[in-house]
Amino acid sequence: MTTPPTTAPTQAEIDAAIVEADRTAPPDPHHPNRDYPPYRSSALRHPRQPLLPIVDPEAVELAGPVFGATDVSSLDSDLTLGLAGEPAGQRITVTGRVVDRSGRPVPRQLVEIWQANAAGRYAHDLDQHPAPLDPNFTGFGRCLTDDDGSYAFTTIRPGAYPWRNHVNAWRPAHIHFSLFGTAFTQRMVTQMYFPGDPLFRYDPVLRSVTDQAARDRLVARYDHDLSVAEWSLGFRWDIVLDGPISTLFEDR
Ligand SMILES: [Fe+2]
Repeated sequence: MTTPPTTAPTQAEIDAAIVEADRTAPPDPHHPNRDYPPYRSSALRHPRQPLLPIVDPEAVELAGPVFGATDVSSLDSDLTLGLAGEPAGQRITVTGRVVDRSGRPVPRQLVEIWQANAAGRYAHDLDQHPAPLDPNFTGFGRCLTDDDGSYAFTTIRPGAYPWRNHVNAWRPAHIHFSLFGTAFTQRMVTQMYFPGDPLFRYDPVLRSVTDQAARDRLVARYDHDLSVAEWSLGFRWDIVLDGPISTLFEDR
């Protein structure tokens, strides 16, 4: 079993820090606090200098990666396929629409996801906590939105996993999302959560979004009509790229 350093704060200390952070930093519906003391590593990695304006966006694009629609296969959106067998866990579908502030669909948008497996373990060298890896699950997927701005993935419901922010710290189950606009420099990254997770109140990452309505917009809803008999559970999560009800992104 992985034991956090003895200097790690307790959950009660983190809870108190969350109360203090909420008191001193009023709810901001537009972006999470970049430096949020209960989310301890944010102290070291939040920007201390103002963002630099990009003088010539087109010049930046010349040196950036190129993403072409032909690179994305229909198989890429089903994380349960492509390996020797079926991954372990609860099969789910996750779908929704990517829209702008006016509710207009954003078509042909590259949507990428990554997630832990059903046991809460990432297929990544940095994740060494003692939960099983799944040889039939990489946890990576991508797709393009259609003309209606809709995306859809078939995957496995991820498990909660421990992290070392404090003693007995567990991340609520979540799926990481990345969206590209029309250019690499427009990339936005966020996380989708599952409804009713008892870990929400303990998680400084989610709590760093200090506006309750904004936090709620990061939680998918269960959609029984999207569930498939004898096959999968359905979750629906729309992504609003900007405006007063935008989805919170980590890089704003
Ligand atoms: Fe994660």
